Amino acid sequence: MIMTQRMVRARGGTLIPALGLGTWRMGECENRRQDEIAALQLGLDVGFSLIDTAEMYGSGVAEQIVGEAIRGRRDEVFLVSKVLPSNSSRKGTINAVERSLKHLNCDHIDLYLLHWPGPYPLEETFEAFERLSDEGKIGRYGVSNFDTDGMEEVFATRRGEGVCVNQVLYNLAQRAAEDELMAWCEMNDVALMAYSPLDQGSILEDSVLNEIANRHGVTAAAVAVAWTMRFPNIVSIPKATAPNHIRACAAAYDIALTEEDLDAMDRTFPPPMPGTRLSVY
Ligand SMILES: NC(=O)c1ccc[n+]([C@@H]2O[C@H](COP(=O)([O-])OP(=O)(O)OC[C@H]3O[C@@H](n4cnc5c(N)ncnc54)[C@H](OP(=O)(O)O)[C@@H]3O)[C@@H](O)[C@H]2O)c1
Repeated sequence: MIMTQRMVRARGGTLIPALGLGTWRMGECENRRQDEIAALQLGLDVGFSLIDTAEMYGSGVAEQIVGEAIRGRRDEVFLVSKVLPSNSSRKGTINAVERSLKHLNCDHIDLYLLHWPGPYPLEETFEAFERLSDEGKIGRYGVSNFDTDGMEEVFATRRGEGVCVNQVLYNLAQRAAEDELMAWCEMNDVALMAYSPLDQGSILEDSVLNEIANRHGVTAAAVAVAWTMRFPNIVSIPKATAPNHIRACAAAYDIALTEEDLDAMDRTFPPPMPGTRLSVY
């Protein structure tokens, strides 16, 4: 079955597919390369239309794998990549995009993010983002791993209001984003992109999650991903390489979680205590 993508709307009218595939840990082992390319292609076949990558992943090799997977299919994908904070000076950011475009073998990246807060003034990075956007090399831009105070700083910076996405750690076991950040993002029309929605697999044996999955006739992974996508301004980006894992994550689309499901999950994976800081993987 092929999914029909729901879109998340962010600042400036940006439309982002609500479910995508991550690529962290891809490109780290040459003999997994073909499987990783095939995984992303299968993802496109079953309807994933967003791929998240970064110059950091596999030191550029993950981007090359994405480039191979989307060859001849660029139009089917909303492409996200990220600049390393250590490269996020004005010139370094521009060079990073040029490198990423070569790796990805395409002429534009749809959404480009600062991977986490870095040593350079945000204004420099955003200035480079604006220039790259004017040149058509990137579409929209955003940040990653910024907590509420960091987002306040972003918006207080010249060109900071161009930030339309914050990609953060968010899953059943890591709910810090719910403390203040989620409301801040909703109020300011910034989409949240939930990374590690499966908590890298650690939550999938949980009995409550599996009971809910059984009730819906899906896997625990599908329920975990569906849970991260339960609000209209959240994009979820699980990473899956195994074909059955990819199909399981795609099934998240069709799950309508009930109040009873959500209450049961809240009891097992409680919401954050006030003041909980955002964690980072
Ligand atoms: N901005 C940031 O700082 C940041 C940080 C971390 C991650 N990310 C992004 O978010 C993406 C996702 O996060 P993540 O890779 O950390 O972790 P994740 O998506 O929470 O979990 C990935 C792991 O779960 C397994 N898996 C996937 N589907 C499954 C299923 N249906 N049943 C059982 N296991 C399943 C995968 O195995 P297989 O691969 O073997 O199928 C993989 O080992 C990353 O790939 C990256 O693109 C961004």
